Amino acid sequence: MRLIGRIGLRRSESEPEHDRRDEDQPGEPRAGEGKAESGMGAVHATTLAAPGASAKGPKGQTGLTRRSSPKLPAMSEAPIRVAVAGAAGRMGATVCDAVEAADGLELSGRADPELGVELGDVLDDADVVVDFTIPDQALPNAHKCLHSGTSVVIGTTGFDMEKLRKCANDHFDGGNGGRAFVAPNFAIGAVLMMQAAQMIAPHMPEVEIIELHHDRKLDKPSGTAARTAELIEAAGGNVHEPIHSVRLPGLVAHQEVVFGGQGQTLTLRHDSIDRSSFMPGVVLACRKVGSLPEPLTVGLEALLEA
Ligand SMILES: NC(=O)c1ccc[n+]([C@@H]2O[C@H](COP(=O)([O-])OP(=O)(O)OC[C@H]3O[C@@H](n4cnc5c(N)ncnc54)[C@H](O)[C@@H]3O)[C@@H](O)[C@H]2O)c1
Repeated sequence: MRLIGRIGLRRSESEPEHDRRDEDQPGEPRAGEGKAESGMGAVHATTLAAPGASAKGPKGQTGLTRRSSPKLPAMSEAPIRVAVAGAAGRMGATVCDAVEAADGLELSGRADPELGVELGDVLDDADVVVDFTIPDQALPNAHKCLHSGTSVVIGTTGFDMEKLRKCANDHFDGGNGGRAFVAPNFAIGAVLMMQAAQMIAPHMPEVEIIELHHDRKLDKPSGTAARTAELIEAAGGNVHEPIHSVRLPGLVAHQEVVFGGQGQTLTLRHDSIDRSSFMPGVVLACRKVGSLPEPLTVGLEALLEA
């Protein structure tokens, strides 16, 4: 099995411009509760929307995967308009900063009950909605987006994927409707961990998964752990139940996958120590979602270059 290729970001582009302090730590207040600005550095992807293109299905298609070139303007003339659902939350506030810093994207709205703004209030001005809300709101929000022809990038975890698939299929309208993209984890390191797990599983099939998150996470096991288990089992592995979920202050998002074999173990571990780890993936998804060939696409790996 071949591991995925590059995420498509230059090293300097995938890192914050300055060291982040502890402002992203889970115990910190969320945006709107007096939290400091998250200070996300510039985030760029290698794909650009063409002038006039948007990520909204019927009104235009993005995904013109033209590479940045010195001969081409650095920014599209018509940026993709991105609204964020859950904009006052820990992830949503970080996404707002990342979208504002990204070439070719424009932050067009911030929806959150805590801001007094409904998703419906920002839909008309958005080509793409990014949803980082709560498990029982992800599906109704996705339905609102797709019903209005707006593509949706979902980072929220803990909802029924099959219901989303049906909703996305129902609104695809032969390719004229919006698309849904879901990533249980937008961090490239986590995606690589899942791919490595798939590669190892046929050789060391007995597996335990331990996921560790901050103590305000609502769902368990995490979406990343559930997806990792799904991929390992598809590769012939046997994931022992239960998946272990640790919730503690001080953690962000971490996972260990432990393979046991005769006289040996092999452990994969990924740590997101800062929410900026998810942002290059979110920005990439905003750029590509409008041109995806399927009504629903799951997993960041589907967007990465081979
Ligand atoms: N996919 C990934 O890479 C990834 C990474 C980190 C977190 N997550 C997931 O993202 C989600 C959000 O995490 P968080 O830590 O930011 O949570 P949070 O509690 O800090 O923020 C959630 C926000 O959503 C708002 N909200 C609730 N209902 C809403 C609605 N109908 N419309 C708009 N906003 C609404 C809340 O008011 C809150 O501000 C969780 O499901 C978490 O598991 C995913």
